[in-house]
Amino acid sequence: MIKPDGVANGHTGAILEDIIKGGFKIIALKYTRLSKEIAGQFYAVHSERPFYTDLVNFMSSGPIVAAILEKDNAVEDFRTLIGATDPSKADAGTIRNKYAKSIDANAIHGSDSDENAQIEGSFFFTAFERF
Ligand code: CMP
Repeated sequence: MIKPDGVANGHTGAILEDIIKGGFKIIALKYTRLSKEIAGQFYAVHSERPFYTDLVNFMSSGPIVAAILEKDNAVEDFRTLIGATDPSKADAGTIRNKYAKSIDANAIHGSDSDENAQIEGSFFFTAFERF
């Protein structure tokens, strides 16, 4: 998911280009905006964390781009492509290094496991929206 800061700062096209050049196939894509309730559900796994309220407020603050990506070893390779959660620690050339400003406004989210990728993909897309 390209987060509200990535979209608002005009980086959607560049980020999608990095993803495609990284060897990922986009099999579903959507431009939408999360309500607080939906953002809260998406990040329910973090509901006990101190940053949860700020995270939900931020993620519902503007439009996002959701995508399902396909590649061998996709989860690990995508996390390499996007870089560390905290952009100040993200390797040079990674998406967060290039386009993110803070740990909250960190431009992009990637699933942390194949299981969560299935859950998060189904959060945004029906079977008829995947090609
Ligand atoms: P993301 O990969 O989308 O998963 C949860 C998000 O919470 C994370 O990226 C960060 O943007 C945000 N966040 C804010 N503070 C922290 C923190 N201390 N540790 C991890 N994630 C944080």
